[in-house]
Amino acid sequence: TFVVTENCIKCKYTDCVDVCPVDCFHEGPNFLVIDPDECIDCTLCEPECPAEAIFAEDELPEGQEIFIEINADLAKKWPVISEVKDPLPNADEWNGKPDKTKLLEE
Ligand code: SF4
Ligand code: F3S
Repeated sequence: TFVVTENCIKCKYTDCVDVCPVDCFHEGPNFLVIDPDECIDCTLCEPECPAEAIFAEDELPEGQEIFIEINADLAKKWPVISEVKDPLPNADEWNGKPDKTKLLEE
């Protein structure tokens, strides 16, 4: 399973959804998550993210392990997104900022 991590928050570029063959991305106000029950580990989304926020669950950067649960939980709550849309305003400024987890809106 692949996991969306912290750096997606307040960016939400959505390039990832265009390549997913099984539509497993779900959309919240300022973040996307991957449904772990749907992801087929095709790896296609990982290089598409301009924020480099997508990782295989066994290759998560230190401190990002919490996002395994966040993806699983929020995928149950949020609707599927399968078409690219504009990034959030100021996405480029937020790309790479530290400590964005507290800004995640559910
Ligand atoms: Fe979708 Fe493939 Fe990414 Fe899983 S690894 S979320 S199936 S694009
Ligand atoms: Fe987020 Fe990257 Fe997709 S910023 S919306 S995981 S392209």
